[in-house]
Amino acid sequence: NKPLLSQCYNLMDFESVAKNVMKKTAWGYYSSAADDEITMRENHEAYHRIWFRPKVLVDVKNVDFSTTMLGTKVSMPFYVTATALGKLGHPEGEVVLTRAAHKHSVVQMIPTLASCSFDEIVDARQGDQVQWLQLYVNSDRAITERIVRHAEARGCKGLFITVDAPQLGRREKDMRSKFVDQGSDVQNGQETDTSQGAARAISSFIDPSLSWADIPWFRSITKMPIVLKGVQRVEDVIKAIECGVQGVVLSNHGGRQLEFAPSAVEVLAETMPVLRSMGLENKIEVFVDGGVRRATDILKALCLGAKGVGIGRPFLYAMSAYGFDGVDRAMQLLHDELEMGMRLIGCTSVDQLNPSLVDTRNLGSH
Ligand code: FNR
Repeated sequence: NKPLLSQCYNLMDFESVAKNVMKKTAWGYYSSAADDEITMRENHEAYHRIWFRPKVLVDVKNVDFSTTMLGTKVSMPFYVTATALGKLGHPEGEVVLTRAAHKHSVVQMIPTLASCSFDEIVDARQGDQVQWLQLYVNSDRAITERIVRHAEARGCKGLFITVDAPQLGRREKDMRSKFVDQGSDVQNGQETDTSQGAARAISSFIDPSLSWADIPWFRSITKMPIVLKGVQRVEDVIKAIECGVQGVVLSNHGGRQLEFAPSAVEVLAETMPVLRSMGLENKIEVFVDGGVRRATDILKALCLGAKGVGIGRPFLYAMSAYGFDGVDRAMQLLHDELEMGMRLIGCTSVDQLNPSLVDTRNLGSH
């Protein structure tokens, strides 16, 4: 008994529907975040402390919010970020997101730990659709090298190395829901295994020894642009520039890793003025993700200097609740919100978005 898709009017609506229709384990894995989920809530709430300073009497009859990310032209300034285990939410998994991304001309980032195989997700690509690879670095670097070279050979246009997960965060909702669904195993004496949750089961793919010293090696094995996903302070953005990578994603992994990691938009507001003062703002593409639910969030991030934003859970929820049609509608809603938002702040193209259009005086006051 779920609402009609046409009754979903914004991205949050998909979350409420998904919560009711998803299996407890899947809901637990998708919705959980670290510890008390304070960073996850903050990701969303930080945007509420930024207000616009709109311009009036601008001819906004025609607005265009297309842009480029890592050299790829996209119709809207967001991308589908990597989220593992797509088949927990929908039997077809990540390829559902591939089809929707194609329909709306946005980029999909393919997770290392997808439910579909990497090749299935690449095979689902249509026309000149662009995909990136999210990489969890294996401690066996030969495996990592094979994954990277294969992705490049299959046409991936960006390598996003996740750097915020030397160990997986503790996601208690995930642990509990696993416990409920597989409670019977406790009686079989396998309590520790079953209480670990889906996230723990995949942690063996992660190498805690990964460091800055490894980055030149990645540059030597691929020509794909390299982006570090999960950077959380301006000092590390500067190091990333020094390492010669093409981008960073300011991100705390949707609040799933370090509890009390700052929201990406707050790090962004701190980062861009420093880069500008050092003349480095054009040396790197800065992306953000976490808590983006409205086109106004996207526009705020772009005003502050982001090249684009990643969106995770909303597309998973839309997919889990309504399949392709859900993700399609979620993207269409963002499109419509973007058009309205651009008009109402008085901009007709993304290159007009700039810091004078936002008031961040309250951003730092939590
Ligand atoms: C993620 N994220 C993630 N990141 C990554 O680098 N590799 C991964 O495998 C995953 N898997 C994953 C699963 C699920 C269920 C979620 C919700 C998130 C983090 C993701 O790429 C992104 O940083 C956040 O999801 C952004 O926050 P929102 O949009 O979900 O609030």
